[in-house]
Amino acid sequence: MRHLLDTKTLSRADALRILDVAEDMADTQQREVKKLPTLRGKTVVNLFFEDSTRTRISFEAAAKRLSADVINFSAKGSSVSKGESLQDTAQTLQAMGADAVVIRHGASGAPRTLATSGWITAGVVNAGDGTHEHPTQALLDAFTIRNRRHGADSRGRDLEGMRVTIVGDILHSRVARSNVWLLSTLGAEVTLVAPPTLVPQDVSAWPARVRYNLDDAIDADPDALMMLRIQSERMNAAYFPTEREYSRRWGLDPARLARLGADSMVMHPGPMNRGLEISAEAADSARSTVLAQVTNGVSVRMAVLYLLLAGTSGETEDAR
Ligand code: CP
Repeated sequence: MRHLLDTKTLSRADALRILDVAEDMADTQQREVKKLPTLRGKTVVNLFFEDSTRTRISFEAAAKRLSADVINFSAKGSSVSKGESLQDTAQTLQAMGADAVVIRHGASGAPRTLATSGWITAGVVNAGDGTHEHPTQALLDAFTIRNRRHGADSRGRDLEGMRVTIVGDILHSRVARSNVWLLSTLGAEVTLVAPPTLVPQDVSAWPARVRYNLDDAIDADPDALMMLRIQSERMNAAYFPTEREYSRRWGLDPARLARLGADSMVMHPGPMNRGLEISAEAADSARSTVLAQVTNGVSVRMAVLYLLLAGTSGETEDAR
């Protein structure tokens, strides 16, 4: 695998390969083999132009558990504030010996530009670009769903027959986009639920059905209900109902939580707006996988870095 830029073009074979290697990584962590020597001598750069808690720390932990060196770059406090370009920033990091660049950027397409421009030779991993994609989030979500469905050893299994409902700010969500493509590639049936103003115009081209009523979606008994963060920082006021109305009509409150089927899991990529899209009761309930998703994220990112920097040739040679 040369780069991981999106899930839209990720094949079923490549997706399963990443999930299966992530199972191997999770096994090593459970056996308390905290550090593998696999990427000794390699350097991973975390290049973050937008804020992050989970993704940046998770990539750092993943790289360190594979014995890679890690350089953390945050645009805040760097020469980006003096006007330095993405090209010059990336080439500076490459000159310091980067083998892989994990990039989060506010502009959709920035990771692809970095991977295809010829500016650098390092492998590129998209850690979230604008409203486009967040492929490792979708992979860790798929890993979490697969684990719940098939148990600890689910290697080689897909999500055929699973029903996943994604709720909320679909319009601005790179998590939703990556999940729609990946989950459908793996055989899951995806339903999107949102206020009409938070549904993207091109949604008819997505492999998902659209609904507007959360109560009906809950009555359909999904296997997983994935609540999305309301992205106030990207929101035009015209798109958004009032917070009170949003919470009342599309929030996962205790009453809706109680109506969910006994086996339904409650997911959220984080960070959560408690009391807006998800109640504290739902976020902290026994059926919440929020923290399991974070734990699984480290295994999935170990798998991605491994396949990028040490993986063998074959079907995963180029996942672009
Ligand atoms: N889920 C996610 O991307 O979280 P962070 O923004 O904290 O990385």
